Amino acid sequence: MIEEILALKKERHAVILAHNYQIPEVLDVADLVGDSLELSRAAARLDAEVIVFCGVDFMAETAAILSPQKKVVLPEKGAWCPMAHMITPDQLKELKALYPEAAVVCYVNSTAEVKAESDICCTSANGVQVAGSLEQKQVIFVPDRNLAAYVARHTEKQIIPWNGYCYVHDHFTPEEVHAARARHPQAEVLVHPECRPEVIDLADYVYSTAGMGRHARVSKAREFIIGTEVGMLYRLKKENPDKEFYPLSEKAVCQNMKKTNLVKVLRALQTLEPGVTVPEEIASRARKAIERMLAVKG
Ligand code: 13P
Ligand code: SF4
Repeated sequence: MIEEILALKKERHAVILAHNYQIPEVLDVADLVGDSLELSRAAARLDAEVIVFCGVDFMAETAAILSPQKKVVLPEKGAWCPMAHMITPDQLKELKALYPEAAVVCYVNSTAEVKAESDICCTSANGVQVAGSLEQKQVIFVPDRNLAAYVARHTEKQIIPWNGYCYVHDHFTPEEVHAARARHPQAEVLVHPECRPEVIDLADYVYSTAGMGRHARVSKAREFIIGTEVGMLYRLKKENPDKEFYPLSEKAVCQNMKKTNLVKVLRALQTLEPGVTVPEEIASRARKAIERMLAVKG
């Protein structure tokens, strides 16, 4: 199947992009594995006719918005991010009416319609830099309350958060951090900014998934406790075979990230379905918010 995928990929002038939380077989067949920011940047710059996006809905939508001339395919139509659907465009419009002076930052884990209502996007890798780049003192931040809290702590901005959350990261508890440290006293604790503030307080470092990868490579530590979705551990172990990685919780599984497999990737390359498109009226406004983010340094 891998040979068939590779041959068809060439024939179709396709690239396979995969998020760090995908299953190992999919990661191994991908042209690029990364976090949301890296994959957005790649979607914008890659020279390909087809992007097979192994991730969840908002990531494929972002690729389609940035590259309207490319065919974007999401191998599993039902792979969606629950947090991205925790705020509707109407709810955001109501919030904007309450704070007319505020800038609107939306986490890329959001729908294209919500991006279209926002001034600028951010990812977990650049939320602090994005908020810091704005003139306004007041910033509406949607949909993740935990990333909003993290940005509020690291900027001078008055952050107005929405009450969305990622069920995978919001589930980690301080007790789990204490227990993991007791089991592995030499390990560094790395957590994602979608975790609750009380969990972040107990961590050594806070990173997006790509940031965790970079840190693990350069750190002198030999052991790491990883506070994000468990799929991340495969890549960390593969890139650092002489180091040990332990999940903060074995239960941290994003069901939607696990829906894509090689059979679906092959079918996507054969049929170029399910395609992901965003109506240009929405895409053009969402594109401004994403491109403004991509122009922010850091
Ligand atoms: P990253 O941008 O860190 O890869 O995170 C994306 C995501 O969905 C986290 O749950
Ligand atoms: Fe969404 Fe959380 Fe899954 Fe990331 S891990 S895609 S934020 S549900």
